[in-house]
Amino acid sequence: MTTTTPPVAGPLTGLFTPRTIAGLRLPNALVMAPMTRSHSPYGVPTAENAGYYRRRAAGGIGLIVTEGTLVDHPSAGHETDIPRMKRAAAAGWESVVRGVHAEGAAIFSQLWHVGSRRDPVDGQSAWTPSGIDEHGTPNSHAMTMAEIDRILAAFGEAGRLAYEIGFDGVEIHAAHGYLLDEFLWPATNRRSDRYGGSPANRSRLVAEIIAEIRSTTSPDFPIGVRYSQFKELAFTARLADTPAELAELLTPLVRAGASLFHASQRRFAEPAFAGSPLNLAGWTKKLTGLPAITVGSVGLTRDALRGDATDPHSLAALADRLAAGEFDLAAVGRPLLGNPEWAAAVRTGDLDSVVDYVKEHEDVYR
Ligand SMILES: Cc1cc2nc3c(=O)[nH]c(=O)nc-3n(C[C@H](O)[C@H](O)[C@H](O)COP(=O)(O)O)c2cc1C
Repeated sequence: MTTTTPPVAGPLTGLFTPRTIAGLRLPNALVMAPMTRSHSPYGVPTAENAGYYRRRAAGGIGLIVTEGTLVDHPSAGHETDIPRMKRAAAAGWESVVRGVHAEGAAIFSQLWHVGSRRDPVDGQSAWTPSGIDEHGTPNSHAMTMAEIDRILAAFGEAGRLAYEIGFDGVEIHAAHGYLLDEFLWPATNRRSDRYGGSPANRSRLVAEIIAEIRSTTSPDFPIGVRYSQFKELAFTARLADTPAELAELLTPLVRAGASLFHASQRRFAEPAFAGSPLNLAGWTKKLTGLPAITVGSVGLTRDALRGDATDPHSLAALADRLAAGEFDLAAVGRPLLGNPEWAAAVRTGDLDSVVDYVKEHEDVYR
């Protein structure tokens, strides 16, 4: 990690002080958001992947959440370049973890099942809670109880393997309309058994996954849950219309042993519910008492980096809200694609070296 140059004193300094979150010592408040890159042939991380993550750690990020990593079951996803959490990939992951640790940063593995977003392969349709899209149109295979058990076991094994490999924690991907979010969302979960209906039933599978990983790792292994109101294919969708409804969904996850939450929004500055300025991470922390990561257009442009706290979208405004304790960490995604040294540049005030995100950065891998 680049620690030789002192930070520029000012409104952003608080982002760069060490802290302990969910029992984990972190050098600062900045998290690399999980971003699928599809650069791991046959699901196995390569030296190129290790270099990619190490560069962001060396560039000053405190905690890396890996790209979505498929749990080891054929229904989890069909793309062969997306990394997997499987025995054959363990050595590749070990070198990723080693490189990040060598730079003084921590790293979580994001565990993923794409649900309805898997293309039909070999005549097998995608696995989902109820076999329907949000309009009720049949589009996939409604999972049996035995199939739910298999996916629960696959997440459990993936968590255990991540722990053995040396990851500092895992993040369960329950956001953006993929399998676990399809269980959370009543539009796609119309089950009448113990996995459907009430909010507690809809969050049961995620809770069971947490408990399973907890039982095969250690009491203090950080287990995070990423969730969102919006879906990648339905930006205005909502899991909960009120804080009380959100509490009903999240409380079983806390009871199951979750350590922290990653509340995914497209823009961190937007309030989660009418009548309060708190964003989704703010409400999550308030309702659960657990640490929360915020995300969504954090420092996305150089204007946001230069703006003062009167601009609600600025990094300075974010730093104020973090200092006030609304949330604990802030994740940055797209800016890190084109700027591996983004965090160090922000810390030292070298903003001229930062290039604004453009879509083409998603095609570059370095
Ligand atoms: C190329 C790309 C890939 C992404 N892949 C994932 C993923 O694998 N898992 C996930 O939870 N979110 C994924 N996201 C969402 C990001 O983690 C993040 O929430 C989003 O980009 C908003 O943050 P930003 O404004 O800082 O980019 C992806 C985003 C991008 C741009």
